[in-house]
Amino acid sequence: MRYLIANWKMHGSHVRVREFAFALNRAMATAPASLAAVFCPPFTYLETARTAMPLNTRVALGGQNCARDAEGAFTGGISAPMLKDCGAGYVILGHSERRLYMHETDDQVSAKMQAAYDAGLTPIVCVGETEQEYNEGKTLDVLACQLKNWVKGEALVAYEPVWAIGTGRTPTTVEIGKAHAHIKSILGSAQPVLYGGSVKSANIKEILAIEAVDGALIGGASLKIDEMAAMINAASS
Ligand code: PGA
Repeated sequence: MRYLIANWKMHGSHVRVREFAFALNRAMATAPASLAAVFCPPFTYLETARTAMPLNTRVALGGQNCARDAEGAFTGGISAPMLKDCGAGYVILGHSERRLYMHETDDQVSAKMQAAYDAGLTPIVCVGETEQEYNEGKTLDVLACQLKNWVKGEALVAYEPVWAIGTGRTPTTVEIGKAHAHIKSILGSAQPVLYGGSVKSANIKEILAIEAVDGALIGGASLKIDEMAAMINAASS
């Protein structure tokens, strides 16, 4: 199975989400069965995305974070069962932006993985080294450290070098291949591992051709339906 995940981060409106979901559903209708698409808008638009697509759509929905508890006195919190209730099947966890700005730790990510499993969601767990760690040659050690509290279950890993996110820079294909092989050596060869960080229609083919790459987590380029449709096309062949 190959996965394309659109991470809209803090972008969108009812109108944009509706148009994108409609177009994404159409683009996926003719894609091979081995390709899966997941749309992760801000949680306030999950319902908008869901109702813009037919019941039998090939497009799954995902949240961008969830709380570790199912419910409780946590003002501003959104739980995994709530995402599920709004039509999500997936949830992105441990994105580097949350690790950086919300000080999310590996332990918290693990607790959220369990919360996602309990709610019937598939976690998409992000790992990746910072620029400094990359320059110091520590990438593989950082990945091993971030995965040490991995909670077993049906989950996806997204290898996202922090320095490649939103910068237009990517590691070499050899570096991506090495990182993915390393993650699979830790979690098992059957573990799907996606690459994320400046993926766009111009480079997705080359990235998906790397052994051990099972798909892509796409930020900026996923905001444009033409780009997304071109990436679906590239991933279909
Ligand atoms: P980008 O973001 O594609 O804009 O680099 C990827 C991500 O943060 O998931």
